[in-house]
Amino acid sequence: MERLKVAVLISGRGSNLQSLIDACAAPDFPAEIVLVLSNKADAYGLVRAAEAGIATTAISHKAYPDRESFDEALHAEIVAAGAQLVCLAGFMRLLTPGFVGKWHDRMINIHPSLLPAFKGLHSHERAIEAGCRFTGCTVHFVRAEMDDGPIIVQAAVPILPGDSANELSDRVLAAEHRCYPLALRLVAEGKAVVDGAIVRIADAASPQDALLNPLAG
Ligand code: GAR
Repeated sequence: MERLKVAVLISGRGSNLQSLIDACAAPDFPAEIVLVLSNKADAYGLVRAAEAGIATTAISHKAYPDRESFDEALHAEIVAAGAQLVCLAGFMRLLTPGFVGKWHDRMINIHPSLLPAFKGLHSHERAIEAGCRFTGCTVHFVRAEMDDGPIIVQAAVPILPGDSANELSDRVLAAEHRCYPLALRLVAEGKAVVDGAIVRIADAASPQDALLNPLAG
């Protein structure tokens, strides 16, 4: 089986990276990670990658005069590693339209909200403050606008009375760790096909029931 070669871009602890590393460890998983790239040399995700025997590179954005030249350096590393798909996993730098265009329909991102709600930072605080009963996470193809692009997989996660942002973040993170490997598998198998602004999933079983929160008044 030919596995899709993937570069994962991170900036921090790399728990989503770990979920992808664990998924790729299965012999029948259709993707393999060929490079983990961080803009921060002290990102713990680099340790996770090294422990899994994956090539790592740190490229500090501070070493470049502008976003364009930083993104060109990223692109060169990704191409040199032979990657066919880019996975953003807590990569906290905005990417230039030029870079995003080079990886059109070949770059995916995970965001901790039910997009298109709560793009950007502090999504959990904002969902709690808005009184939402649910939030969640989204894996989507990347477009030039931040946290925008055709949606591949979402998970809905309930917000419970008295939740702190940290408690909610932990609950959503557990869902992220299920969503990202699923989305990567669907993309690598060619089952997630972009059709305009949406993604069509081949052979997908779908839940039919509504989730209610609260369950009773
Ligand atoms: C994750 O919650 C991810 O969804 C979020 O950063 C965290 C990274 O955690 N990404 C964004 O907010 C992108 N807009 P991790 O390093 O443990 O995977």
